[in-house]
Amino acid sequence: MKVKIEDHAEQEIRISKYLQGQFAEHLGHGIYDGIWVGKDSPIENVNGLRSDVVNALKQLHIPVLRWPGGSYADEYHWQNGIGPVEKRPKTINHSWGAVVEDNSFGTDEFFELCRQLGCEAYININMGSGTVEEMVNWIEYMTADGDSYFANLRRQNGHPEPYKVKFLGLGNEAWMGGGYMRSGYYADVYRRFQTYVSEYNGPLYKIASGPGDDNFAWTKSLSELAEPFMDGMALHHYALTNNWEHKGDAVNFTTEDWVSLLNSARQMDSLISRHLELIPKTTDLIVDEWGTWFEPLAGTNPAFLIQQNTMRDAVVAATTLNIFNKYADRIKMANIAQMINVLQSMIMTDGSQIVLTPTYYVFKMFQLHQDSRLLAAFHEVNNDLNYTVSEKDHEYIISVCNVNPEKAHDLTLTLPQSLGQTTYAKCLSSSQMNAHNDVAHPDVVTDQDFTGFKVMDHDLKLNLEPMEIVTLKFPIK
Ligand code: AHR
Repeated sequence: MKVKIEDHAEQEIRISKYLQGQFAEHLGHGIYDGIWVGKDSPIENVNGLRSDVVNALKQLHIPVLRWPGGSYADEYHWQNGIGPVEKRPKTINHSWGAVVEDNSFGTDEFFELCRQLGCEAYININMGSGTVEEMVNWIEYMTADGDSYFANLRRQNGHPEPYKVKFLGLGNEAWMGGGYMRSGYYADVYRRFQTYVSEYNGPLYKIASGPGDDNFAWTKSLSELAEPFMDGMALHHYALTNNWEHKGDAVNFTTEDWVSLLNSARQMDSLISRHLELIPKTTDLIVDEWGTWFEPLAGTNPAFLIQQNTMRDAVVAATTLNIFNKYADRIKMANIAQMINVLQSMIMTDGSQIVLTPTYYVFKMFQLHQDSRLLAAFHEVNNDLNYTVSEKDHEYIISVCNVNPEKAHDLTLTLPQSLGQTTYAKCLSSSQMNAHNDVAHPDVVTDQDFTGFKVMDHDLKLNLEPMEIVTLKFPIK
């Protein structure tokens, strides 16, 4: 199979680095034990954040992190999570298992995490059970620089400089757990909250709670009623093996399950394109929750959403990132759910040990596309191959994913200009559909050097094994 890649240099479309964003919620071990162990922990940490996890995440160059939820955002009262830890109240996490939340990880700890990861902050405001006043005070605490009560409270808590908040989400899944609102009512509440968003320390990019899956009526209504007030509208879509009642097992699955999960993941393409037809051109699409969702790991608290992560998850991740790249002109940000220990995570922890998942390695490879110029993306070849070709610093960056778990494929990409000596060639592959890493076997699926390619002038000939994902980089001659 041969594909010619064109370079329409006149349409300068950048693959925003924010398409590789992450999401960390107060859910199970997403924060506690996963990344926050506290300063007195025997696990090596810097200011309470475990060093093994931070160091592994730094390799991904995470551009942005969404916090504190998700569903939890709509029950989070930020003032519970500031000041001396011993004085913080213990509350109940009603969203996820009614466990006690000791609030030891709060606003200042979140910004410390962003500092250590070198990423930007996406704060999700409580619109479900919170007030405008609470939001106003939180924004002042985080970003105000003058002599005001909440800015001074931040200083008193040891943080003289204001933080930078890049993105602000107003509500979450407002049509469901975020208040079971109807679209017209949500649009009005959104308009009211956003009125009082003050900008002290740079612009705040405002995101409305958009549709889940194919709720086009929500998108249409919100677009009509709130258009001048939104910078972005959120979309949530999870990949399921069957449906919400039968989410399927993360590890024990058949080839048919593989195909149906991949079809569910690939729906992202048509969902994005149909929602974009309804969203005004002045509003970006933000996919701030996506990924696989399976039945919880046996023996774990079902409210903690712990699931294993296999080669199949890696193929879902690569395919979805290739879909996002295809729409890079209209999607500003995406956030996989979730960064650690929850759903399709990058890292799973077990006490003092950590395991990097197959999905982690996909993000490690795909980071080369961050802020590169898009040439071509997704276009499925034989229904089995999807890809991204982009350019940065006078190098071509090429990622290809073979979604077929049983069939190898050859693909020749003809690039607009001839290729120099490769500067990066990695792959993720396995002969087992459900290959995964665990504490006892942490290196079953890891990125490897990729040798299955040949370069002939403008042509790059690739031999892809079943379910193989590759990323290569070539100087442009
Ligand atoms: O990511 C887990 C949950 O899924 C989020 O909290 C919620 O927004 C969604 O339903």
